[in-house]
Amino acid sequence: MDFQTQLKQKVEAIEQILEKYLPAEEGYQKTVLEAMNYSVRVGGKRLRPMLMQETYQMLGGNGDIVEPFMAAQEMIHTYSLVHDDLPAMDNDMYRRGKKTTHVLYGEAMAILAGDGLLNYAFETACKAFLLEPGNENIGKALTVLAGKAGIYGMIGGQVADVEAEKRGLALDEEKLMYIHEHKTAALIQSSFMIGAILAGAGAEDVKKLEKAAYNIGIAFQIQDDILDVTSTLEVLGKPIGSDEKNNKLTYVKAHGLEKAKEDVEKLSKEALEILQGMQNRNEFLEQLVVYLIHREK
Ligand code: IPE
Ligand code: IPE
Ligand code: MG
Ligand code: MG
Ligand code: MG
Repeated sequence: MDFQTQLKQKVEAIEQILEKYLPAEEGYQKTVLEAMNYSVRVGGKRLRPMLMQETYQMLGGNGDIVEPFMAAQEMIHTYSLVHDDLPAMDNDMYRRGKKTTHVLYGEAMAILAGDGLLNYAFETACKAFLLEPGNENIGKALTVLAGKAGIYGMIGGQVADVEAEKRGLALDEEKLMYIHEHKTAALIQSSFMIGAILAGAGAEDVKKLEKAAYNIGIAFQIQDDILDVTSTLEVLGKPIGSDEKNNKLTYVKAHGLEKAKEDVEKLSKEALEILQGMQNRNEFLEQLVVYLIHREK
């Protein structure tokens, strides 16, 4: 089967897993539940749950405990997008090809839907304990899930990203890399690490994958910065020029388009070498990393 067909099938399978874990839309809080489900269902590449599942399988995992973690990670990622699009943050009107959550449901409901998704993510991940009550790896995976999404992970990156918007600040390479590592690479890292931990991998393999995922995550955000300049709303599903509008500190602004493109390739190749050097290999996962270098959305 070719890569594109496999990719499509895997996205569909992931969406079925997500569906299983989304909350029912009922009760006095129905509106927020609708806003949460809208934000998740509306689409997206499902990259993070995919990376988690592929890593889990690569390292010999063959149970169901990865599923609640896959759903939880996509909920956390989606909450980060709902909040990222708010007027107080990037103030964007389109996401995943549709109106953003705050445009459809209002700002208060979008804030609450983000909060709801974040909390429900942990309620969901904890369901792994029902599947395998005695499995110590679940606690370790939860620690990584929480840490990489938190103030020392994704939220930390978003804070630095917002503060770097001020006009007149000198270009700061160290800060740029801090932003990319935390706002974006952190959740890519936790996806790989949780897949590995749940499969029972040793600390050394988890470390190697954390490094490979760092490269993949930085390359992913550089490509996101490139597409903000070179793509279109129709292809990308979110507005272009958002970074310029907000005076963001981006890789393209710091280094120019050509160097940005070169570095996406270089970082991805380094990540591939790490994956190719592992005792267990996953051909689809390696193809996915190559595919991301030239992604158009
Ligand atoms: C967007 O992530 C936010 C970034 C970290 C660049 P994705 O590009 O993975 O968004 P979806 O999930 O496909 O919509
Ligand atoms: C956001 O980076 C990363 C998140 C943690 C949401 P961007 O602000 O560049 O993401 P997009 O371009 O809006 O998807
Ligand atoms: Mg942003
Ligand atoms: Mg944004
Ligand atoms: Mg962007």
